[in-house]
Amino acid sequence: MNQAQNNNNQIIGKPIDRVDGYLKVTGGARYSAEIPTQNVVHAVLCQSTIARGRIRSIDTQAAERASGVLAVITHLNAPRLAQPTWRPAGQSLPILQKPEIYYYGQNIGVVVATTLEQAEYAASLVRATYDEQRPVGMMAQRLNEAFLPPMGLSAGSGNPADSRRGDVARGLDGAVSIEQTYTTPIEHHNAMEPHATIAIWEGDNLTVYETTQNVSGVREVLASAFGIRQENVRVVSRFLGGGFGSKGLNWPHTTIAAMAARQVKRPVKLVLERPQMFTSAGHRAPTLQQITLGATPAGKLTAIRHATTSHTSMFDDFVEPSGLMTRMMYSCPNVEVSHRLIRANVGTPTFTRAPGEASGSFALESAIDELAYKLKLDPIELRNRNYAERDEHENHPWSSKSLRETYRLGAERFGWAQRNPVPRSMRDGRYLIGYGVASATYPANYRAASARAVFFADGRALVQTGTHDIGTGTYTIMTQIAAETLGLPVDRVQFDLGDTRLPPSPGAGGSTSAASAGSAVQTAARTLRSRLIEMALRDENSPLYGLGTSAVTVESGRIFARDNPSRGETYVQVLARLGEKMVEVVASAQPGRERAAPGAPATASQRPGTEQDRGTQAKESQGGVYSFHSFGAHFCEVRVDPDLGTVRVARILGCYGVGRVLNLKTATSQMHGGMVWGISMALQEETHMDSRSGHYVNANLGEYHVPVNADIPAIETYFVEENDPYVNPIGAKGIGEIGVVGVAAAIANAVYHATGKRVRSLPITLDKVI
Ligand code: MOS
Repeated sequence: MNQAQNNNNQIIGKPIDRVDGYLKVTGGARYSAEIPTQNVVHAVLCQSTIARGRIRSIDTQAAERASGVLAVITHLNAPRLAQPTWRPAGQSLPILQKPEIYYYGQNIGVVVATTLEQAEYAASLVRATYDEQRPVGMMAQRLNEAFLPPMGLSAGSGNPADSRRGDVARGLDGAVSIEQTYTTPIEHHNAMEPHATIAIWEGDNLTVYETTQNVSGVREVLASAFGIRQENVRVVSRFLGGGFGSKGLNWPHTTIAAMAARQVKRPVKLVLERPQMFTSAGHRAPTLQQITLGATPAGKLTAIRHATTSHTSMFDDFVEPSGLMTRMMYSCPNVEVSHRLIRANVGTPTFTRAPGEASGSFALESAIDELAYKLKLDPIELRNRNYAERDEHENHPWSSKSLRETYRLGAERFGWAQRNPVPRSMRDGRYLIGYGVASATYPANYRAASARAVFFADGRALVQTGTHDIGTGTYTIMTQIAAETLGLPVDRVQFDLGDTRLPPSPGAGGSTSAASAGSAVQTAARTLRSRLIEMALRDENSPLYGLGTSAVTVESGRIFARDNPSRGETYVQVLARLGEKMVEVVASAQPGRERAAPGAPATASQRPGTEQDRGTQAKESQGGVYSFHSFGAHFCEVRVDPDLGTVRVARILGCYGVGRVLNLKTATSQMHGGMVWGISMALQEETHMDSRSGHYVNANLGEYHVPVNADIPAIETYFVEENDPYVNPIGAKGIGEIGVVGVAAAIANAVYHATGKRVRSLPITLDKVI
């Protein structure tokens, strides 16, 4: 940190305004559906009104005759598509190829017309009849049908659905224990910006403006569906109005838009309507989580069992991995985590705002609170007594961990000491007051990425990588990283993202972008800076000629001798003298030996500890293999009306150790967003399905409740200073998701403290509190 303070160029970490803020508030930021497109026509989807069965007939004649209609495509006349070779969840069902119906709102056709209104009207004229069967839903009544997901927690991750260390039965023998079931409902992402596609064909070349968190993934799926090479597909996503996981994978409407554009030989725009966003772009699967905890009377955990059941579609296996954090959160010799799936007539669930940790932390951190009351221990003290000094699941040391400090600082700022531990003991007038706490964690993911950095003779720099800004501030932090590394002011650096023509970065999921794209941007900027310095040092006509690279530094685009700042010249002067218009580099960054291969550690931890394991462990530590996680704590105060059962969050505080904070302002905003999601998850969000029809009955923002300003209290965010030399070159752990983890549990724990009533089923609505 001292080094940073001494650096006059320090830009990383500063709470600068969003570099794209002006564009956003003036309407200059064009989102995918707003890209001006010559000759564009409009597509509207027709969707099934049954959840299970088969299309018997589909009458498109009236639609075809309606004015402005260019095409009506159904499974009867759709071009045959190749099954994508790469099939992320949601893609296994062939698109408009067959009459079988597996969920309510499944696409059965698309109408293309000159105007949106013509397309909407014509789509309303398409009539389907069905052979209908009763859908299967209602997971809780069908637990006997649960199966072990054969692909593990996430296809390709190598993460098994089940893991175990020690012997839970033995750990429970004679222990103080609790055993409870917690449930979370179906939730929908509900980004403000609906999913949208503009598809443009030029010969065999396809350009798609898409609302996506993963331009490369969309390109891969479209190339395989249409049997063309990936180089012939360009996917662009410059601004995103929220994704929250629902724009992380591909959904059928993107392929349908491209199919329609090819057929009508004009650019096609397709935007999902709000109700379609409930059926056609994923959801968080409901969970039923059984947790057993055992502890000594002194509060040392002896056993943890966490069994999650969630649902999936009839054709994909997507697991809500709620048990992930239970594997590594606490020190405990006997741990068993399992995941099971039940098939239902629903669209495929997907990643949703901290997939796994958000739903799992509600169960685990509620259970820890229940155990604390049973042991008559302060819930923070119980957590500290079981502090994991290393990752006992992966069997590696942490690269860094500040959880103890976040408990301490959070408790101090919150005023935890003022809490009377007795439930229903604190009041303000007629309101019952409750304090609650829960832990947060999220993996610090880091994947390979590359970036291009260019310096132009006029003094500007351009830095590019195919990452994404899902509204969180990627444009801003990447500009800061590039500017500081190049030794340039922020306003001389332009940063581009969201295009498959740029050097690739991973999809914006799993809190990965800052670490991955950020490390690539830093590497490219550093390489460019070295190149520019070398050009000066090797040039006989430079005032710096003959100096070694360590003898010079750069500030505001000027290279100078460290021991004689007046001896120097600017990047611009170097290029001008050498007659260069620009200097360009491409560089990449990727994880090294410090990260174990995915899946490998989990296998080791399935065995009980042995002498041999401990030998391996010592060797790994020497080799520098670490476990990478962010940690934090959420504290909240609720006020409960004892007569009405209404719960208001009066204040909420988050305290985190997330490595290097790249921009204090955007980082704080992200944590605020996470805590808002958490309040929403705790008290409001729930999608209801009519079990007779398989239809989501509240598929709109009027009846699917998300918070408004009046629901959100004062939010406080603190970051503990954390220097992590191992996590990745940029030192940032990624903060897209940790802000939501544990918030629902903190609120449930506060509701218990206020009322003496333990609510184990989200959302905590008044009927459950009274
Ligand atoms: Mo995140 S739910 O991986 O977009």
